[in-house]
Amino acid sequence: MKRRIFLLNITTAISGLAVTKAFAKMDHSSMSDTMCAINSDECQKEDSMHHEHMNMNMNMNMSNNKTPQKLLATSALPQGQDLPELVRLKNTSDKQGTFEANLEAKPVKIKLTPELTTEFWAYNGNIPGPAIEAFEGDKVKITVKNSIPQATTVHWHGLLIPSNQDGNPQDEIPAGSSRTYEFTIPEGNAGTYWYHPHGHETVAEQVARGLAGIFIVRSKKDPLASLPEQNWFFSDLKLTDKGEIADNSMVDWMNGREGQFVLINGAYRPKITVKSATRVRIWNACSGRYLNLSIPNCDVYLVGTDGGLMPKPIQLNSPLLLSPAERAELVIVPKQSGTVYLQSIGYDRGKMGNVPPEQDIILGELVLTESSSIALPSTLRELPKLGHATAHKTLEYTEVMDMKEPRGGMLFLINGKRHDMQRIDLESNIHEVEEWTIFNNSHMDHNFHIHGAQFTTVSHEVDGKKNPPKYEALKDTINLRPYEKITIKIQQNMPGLRMYHCHIIEHETLGMMGQLMVK
Ligand code: C2O
Ligand code: CU
Ligand code: CU
Repeated sequence: MKRRIFLLNITTAISGLAVTKAFAKMDHSSMSDTMCAINSDECQKEDSMHHEHMNMNMNMNMSNNKTPQKLLATSALPQGQDLPELVRLKNTSDKQGTFEANLEAKPVKIKLTPELTTEFWAYNGNIPGPAIEAFEGDKVKITVKNSIPQATTVHWHGLLIPSNQDGNPQDEIPAGSSRTYEFTIPEGNAGTYWYHPHGHETVAEQVARGLAGIFIVRSKKDPLASLPEQNWFFSDLKLTDKGEIADNSMVDWMNGREGQFVLINGAYRPKITVKSATRVRIWNACSGRYLNLSIPNCDVYLVGTDGGLMPKPIQLNSPLLLSPAERAELVIVPKQSGTVYLQSIGYDRGKMGNVPPEQDIILGELVLTESSSIALPSTLRELPKLGHATAHKTLEYTEVMDMKEPRGGMLFLINGKRHDMQRIDLESNIHEVEEWTIFNNSHMDHNFHIHGAQFTTVSHEVDGKKNPPKYEALKDTINLRPYEKITIKIQQNMPGLRMYHCHIIEHETLGMMGQLMVK
């Protein structure tokens, strides 16, 4: 492997520091196209960076940090249990077309082994939170009681609902209080969503402690309704050797937290049985971990993304990359019986600091009982056609060092700014079709998420080479490789304040977020 070194000067206006960063850029000509993102059309083979330059800075920061916590050995947690079904949130209304329920965010003690008790924060005491299932057109009324010792909100990630019901950081529920969220799910919004806290600078901690759950919206005209379904909700758990939820380290703040345990539906390395062609909904609800899923001995079809079904199924022949908060719907068709590993294939996202190289990790065991086949419909859905864009916005992601930032010494910025709840960064006219170009002007992957709308991708651009997306799909979260530029087409159809941010939750919490006012 050849190495090239180049220098980049970054002057940080924020801290008044002038820092010179030396990046070691590595050639990855041997890298296979397993690196391709499901939504990244250009498979970049040369964009992987290492960050030796950060180590010096890191060590300086580490010296004023308390001693690192000892982590629990991965062998300590039981594995191999059958994939748990998610607990359903009970609909307390018997009226047609109405979903009413109660959620309580509260501390709960769970015994993970006979010796270890962990205090989580969980919705209704469940890890993950109870599953919500509703139909397009349903009136939803959910009362949330906040029994954790901090203010919180509940954000309904991906749903097309009014901004004042969407759990913005400005609308916190103080500790000990309740509020009711009320909205109607619009037609055309069927898909695979989730809910999680979105308070001011508290999201990283609250998600790390266990607050998140799924929200499925069904359509009455679903072309795949006859298939059996499974839900795979991936989350990430970092435990100390005492079984406590570990604090974020400097490295977690910089790169996004990754625990030593990846859970599916709350279970560590479960056994998942697939008997025949099955529709699988997948959530990457990890704070910072990228999943690059490999599903052996099966035909795998991508049929849906963040915003529901795609126009037509796409057969996948490389791993499925999901950055934090992305979802996918797959149809998995076993080709031969037997037991195989479900794995996440090592994906280099350009982490900073002294971190080990990415490795393949085992997520669970897949038991395929027999070979099967299926004829999928050739068209699944027609996407809403957005007209010509009449407005254009540009965003730029940057990273700068700041010795005064105690959480990792880095600032993550959008258009040179940190999130400010009082500042409106951008304005849009309601119903106007816009193109947004997001430029990841940094050496690590970040993703882009926006509230209130599902967008389509117009182009991906790296090194001046522009490519159309590989397929049409509705997204609310999209990954950007280092120095990649993505153009999306978007329309906001409700007035009010909307957030957009990187969904590596530590970056969002550190301020890599902006505010859009729709008028
Ligand atoms: Cu899933 Cu603004 O968040
Ligand atoms: Cu969201
Ligand atoms: Cu980020």
